[in-house]
Amino acid sequence: MRKIYFFITTLLLMLYGTNANAQKVVEPYSFKAFTPPISFEQASARADALLSKMSLEDKAEFISGYNLFFIKGFEKYNIPQLYLSDATQGAHIRKELSSLIEKSTAFPSPLALTATWNPQLAHEYAKSIGEECRVGDIAVLLGPGMNIYRQSQNGRNFEYFGEDPFLAARMIENYVVGMQSTGTIATLKHFLCNNTDYCRRMTNSIVSERTLHEIYLPAFQAGVNAGALAVMTSYNKVNGEWAGQSNYVINKLLRGDLGFKGLVMSDWWSTWNPEKTIKSGLDLEMPGPFTPEGPELKELGNIYVKTNALRLLNEKKVSEADMNRMAKNIMTTCISMGLYDRPVKDLTYLSSYPKHAEIALQTAREATVLLRNEKNILPLQPSDNKILLVGIGNYVNDIARGGGSAEVEGYDQVSMLKALKNEFGDRISFKQNPSESDVKNASTVLISIGTSDSEGYDRPYQLPDSVNNKILTLASLNARTIVIVNAGGGIEMTPWNKKVAGIIFAWYPGQNGHIALAEILSGKTNPSGKLPITLEKKFEDSPGFGYMPAGEKFYTGWERDMDLKRSLINIEYKEGVLVGYRWYETKKIEPLYHFGYGLSYTTFAYSNLSVSTKKFSTTDKIQVEFTLTNTGKVAGDEIAQLYVHDKKASVVRPIKELKSFSRVNLQAGESKRVKMELTAKDFSFYDEKTSKWVAESGDFEILIGCSSNNMILKQSVTLQ
Ligand code: BGC
Repeated sequence: MRKIYFFITTLLLMLYGTNANAQKVVEPYSFKAFTPPISFEQASARADALLSKMSLEDKAEFISGYNLFFIKGFEKYNIPQLYLSDATQGAHIRKELSSLIEKSTAFPSPLALTATWNPQLAHEYAKSIGEECRVGDIAVLLGPGMNIYRQSQNGRNFEYFGEDPFLAARMIENYVVGMQSTGTIATLKHFLCNNTDYCRRMTNSIVSERTLHEIYLPAFQAGVNAGALAVMTSYNKVNGEWAGQSNYVINKLLRGDLGFKGLVMSDWWSTWNPEKTIKSGLDLEMPGPFTPEGPELKELGNIYVKTNALRLLNEKKVSEADMNRMAKNIMTTCISMGLYDRPVKDLTYLSSYPKHAEIALQTAREATVLLRNEKNILPLQPSDNKILLVGIGNYVNDIARGGGSAEVEGYDQVSMLKALKNEFGDRISFKQNPSESDVKNASTVLISIGTSDSEGYDRPYQLPDSVNNKILTLASLNARTIVIVNAGGGIEMTPWNKKVAGIIFAWYPGQNGHIALAEILSGKTNPSGKLPITLEKKFEDSPGFGYMPAGEKFYTGWERDMDLKRSLINIEYKEGVLVGYRWYETKKIEPLYHFGYGLSYTTFAYSNLSVSTKKFSTTDKIQVEFTLTNTGKVAGDEIAQLYVHDKKASVVRPIKELKSFSRVNLQAGESKRVKMELTAKDFSFYDEKTSKWVAESGDFEILIGCSSNNMILKQSVTLQ
């Protein structure tokens, strides 16, 4: 008997280990919203007291911006002047404002951050930027920018959080809390449907309520729920009215449906009718009638809230209550963040800069996506001692980054060449125009390509023929050719995708992100980023195709940005909720690389799915659990993804939708039990008839996998 007992105990220990090495558990995602230091109720009472002392003339001044980037201060009321500055990937230095901040860290772009699928990192990233805002006297950060990646040509995609509303929402809520934990106000922008920068002031996004609620609002909703204190409206029209003066956009969608209570500001020079603006629910017209030397702005005429408010009041077109509401919202928001009680500037955060640089680098490590690795060409081996780096474009020496208000230069930048030299020493050489024999004799060829994306215009998905041809030529001379992409968003890689041995998608990497690239090439870092966007084979496949009027051409520069004489471009969001992978899957269009895809130097196995209940009601929570094992030889992170598929619905639904994910670190051979949680909301769609989220009873599938096109574990469940 004793022997049997001993045998069973030994067997159990062998199978499940001792307590000391029991399988680790990855708990379900959880999140805590931001609470401002002063409650809205208290702040609102203080704002009332201030308002009662303020003259009408001062109110008219206060509800409009001051000196381009400030909220006006009034010493007589103890209201401080506050500085607002861009943006999502770091503090933009405005030299023209006599350097309120001297140095700021350039982080990898927000789209790169999203490729980490690491909400905790989004918190740290934003907290670092918030701390630098404190150094630079910045009270309000004009970010996060968070428009959904509807089409890959948008010049501002690099500033945003990708194509999936759920992924964007989780990153944004953590960003907001990280930012505001430093005492800096976060601004959710651009509300709403500013999904192209092509003549952005002259576009009209025509979009249904359901599409808004399922695709374009969830990230904003998450930001609002996380406690974001400010929102910026967008340049474009939404369903026929400029967003910044639209009662529907601000009062109905933002304040009504999303329940936003804080400060709503306009984008810079984007409201045209002061009466409508005041009535729309907007609080702060930015930046007001500061007229830079541009004939266009002078031609705009007397469009400003600041210069019209008192006249409109006299004419009884607006009321004093309207002006009070605007001024009060600005004050309440700023008071609740403590901005009327303490200085913004805090130089003690200067000592945190080294930590910020480390977070920037860690972001690049986790963001870089390995798309192709034929015959395991990567990581490079020590025997690889004649590595040739070729630059098509300037990104070997200059750091690729996005332009416009979001641009952050950074400091102590590490160029690609420097980072690779540090890692590989004499084993690597750089030639802008190598000879045929240079290429043939190289042990490996690295080609650096990239795009230069910016606010103010879009750029083609296709690369110039000269770039594609050069890649093809180099790849035909050396089979061990690897392409390194530094782009703000997707690019067309179809012409050479299969001809090269490796592709590394490294986004805009920030000031030191090339160190991560070097580590990935050498194997010191195991790549773990996954695509937060779909890379279509050609732009014609995309749901956004056709948004530019036939015959119109791309442009660069700012001239066309303010061209208000051109005819309006109506952009119909005909694809509805089928954005990104939702589109490609439903329409059965095979992309080049799928949403959620990315390779590693190790392999992972998914097993033992358990779902707490097979039949659930709308009030139930469903616990999902599965085992993730690193089956390869090196440690690595896997991003496990959970999608939900509705088997039958009364409306058109995407084939599947992301509803949970988890980045899991595993040593070689290690397993972890990964837990996720679902509620009925995760199975629902937005019903236009009732203006509510509806989960229809019936069968659904819970799908778990490593990329949107690779579902490994499945379980059917029924909503009763
Ligand atoms: C951009 C905003 C930015 C603002 C202030 C505008 O051109 O669209 O995103 O915050 O300028 O710099």
